[in-house]
Amino acid sequence: MSIVQKIRLVVLISGRGSNLQAILDQAANGTLPVEVNAVISNRPGVLGLKRAQQAGVPALELDHRGFADQTCFESSLIKLIDRYKPDLVILAGFMRILTVAFTKHYQGRLLNIHPSLLPKFRGLHTHERALAAREVEHGASIHTVNAELDSGPVIIQVRVPILLGDDHLTLAARVLEQEHRLYPKAIQWLAEGRLKLDKELVLFDGYQLEKPLQLENNSVYIRSDAP
Ligand code: GAR
Repeated sequence: MSIVQKIRLVVLISGRGSNLQAILDQAANGTLPVEVNAVISNRPGVLGLKRAQQAGVPALELDHRGFADQTCFESSLIKLIDRYKPDLVILAGFMRILTVAFTKHYQGRLLNIHPSLLPKFRGLHTHERALAAREVEHGASIHTVNAELDSGPVIIQVRVPILLGDDHLTLAARVLEQEHRLYPKAIQWLAEGRLKLDKELVLFDGYQLEKPLQLENNSVYIRSDAP
């Protein structure tokens, strides 16, 4: 029987925290081998912090507006995060662009979730932009983080159809429901050692990932070039 080591996790948020909640729920019911050691928000008083408190997880505020610049904010953020000695730091709706110093410090242990099929629609208002571009499908991506916006190598994506009559709210809700499956999957693979983040490389089952994995119908497969 293989023993899966629990991942020490710090989650950075800026708001609602529904992705955080999905992870907390799975950690609590034992389906995800993680220990959420801290939740840190750059916005005070947000719902995500209350979710952390309810789960008995330290919920910390570090308001970026109290710092002279992004570098000062990040150096305090790094000190705060590192107190918890995380194996993995995840951005779950954390709405700050990070500098090279920060992303280098956490290289190989920093993930983000973005609500689009990257490289499409980096940045904000992804659902509106997918609709305006008359896409037939949309989705979400988990990627490693570098200092460029939503640009690190993509690990896994989930796709949803865009339906006739969708507006950005119905589409966002359809994507979000899938986001809640996507982050736990990526974290589970890291815990199991199937997924390894090696500088700019992503290894899955020992092989370099050349295309993002796809999460579909509760199963995982490697896209078009899969055997
Ligand atoms: C999620 O849709 C996430 O993909 C997005 O913010 C939302 C946070 O929701 N992240 C980004 O847009 C990052 N570029 P949540 O707070 O309910 O988890």
